Amino acid sequence: MTAQKKRLLTGLKPTGGSLHIGNYFGALKPFLDMYGEYDSILFLADLHALTTVRSGEELRANSFAIVRDYLAAGFDPSKALLFKQSDVPEHAELAWILECLVTVPFLMQAHAYKDRTAKGEEANAGLFNYPMLMAADIILYDTDIVPVGEDQRQHVEYAREAASKFNNAYGATFKEPQGKILKEVAVVPGTDGRKMSKSYGNTIPLFGTKDEIAKAVMSIVTDSLPVLPVTHKNETFPAKNVYAIHKLFRSEDELEKIYEENRGKYKNLKEILIEDIDAFIAPMREKRALITDDVVREVLAHGSEKAREIASAKMKEVRQKIGLEL
Ligand code: ADP
Ligand code: TRP
Repeated sequence: MTAQKKRLLTGLKPTGGSLHIGNYFGALKPFLDMYGEYDSILFLADLHALTTVRSGEELRANSFAIVRDYLAAGFDPSKALLFKQSDVPEHAELAWILECLVTVPFLMQAHAYKDRTAKGEEANAGLFNYPMLMAADIILYDTDIVPVGEDQRQHVEYAREAASKFNNAYGATFKEPQGKILKEVAVVPGTDGRKMSKSYGNTIPLFGTKDEIAKAVMSIVTDSLPVLPVTHKNETFPAKNVYAIHKLFRSEDELEKIYEENRGKYKNLKEILIEDIDAFIAPMREKRALITDDVVREVLAHGSEKAREIASAKMKEVRQKIGLEL
């Protein structure tokens, strides 16, 4: 049955930070809405995280956290593979082989490397080779589709290029993957009206307690413009920052009524918003609290075993073609 489905694969880099509702509506939810339609593979890109994370404790904590987040937000490991990159040594092995096929100037064009060196900082060799490890991640599994954000578009092109270089040198072996660039469905605004982002400190935490949600919502900036007639359609509507977030949790029809009844009563509106966000988050928060380290380990171990079956079969073919198999 799954045989006709296209294969989708994407990686999550465990580099830390708690998720906020902008991440949820902009990245997590679009992924969760689509992965079931494909033969999907999701993995923890822990080897990639080593290009920046320098503490074992931190990497371990980040890895548990991100898997827990995905499971709590609704990712179902019985519907897709979920594994840890470092459990499948074929990724690093293929990366080396691909590195031997591409040139230094080609890798020097990669944004991550260029940005680092443009700032006058030194890049480690892992960061330089990052695109080939990512190419290996993708092409090992005969991936058709790679859903990623715009910032990863170039990396998917590197993967296509690496597949094509290998195929030209050794004969048709790898599929050339397609990127599926996930456009942010909508930019979720933060408590100050700018894009919600951890770097602006204007976030509402996705797994926050009710107190944390309340604190964030109470800090939403409302301005003291004169109370305008109805309301949110007007750009200068004073509670527009509250409304913009509220829209994610209730229909515009319901909101129209609520905002009309509470015109000028920003505190009431914020209290309603707190209740609405909490009602949405509470089940995920409770689910997350029940996901122990052992549950995470078990899910990953199961996924890694399956992933290795696929990856090692592919690498057998590769080793044969390039002359490593005697
Ligand atoms: P941050 O800006 O908080 O550092 P990241 O850059 O780590 O967030 O984003 C992770 C993912 O979440 C990306 O796919 C990004 O597009 C999405 N995302 C982050 N913030 C928002 C937002 N305010 N609205 C919509 N999507 C967002
Ligand atoms: N580079 C990606 C990021 O920073 C993570 C990643 C690693 C990935 N390998 C991948 C994404 C393979 C898609 C496919 O987000």
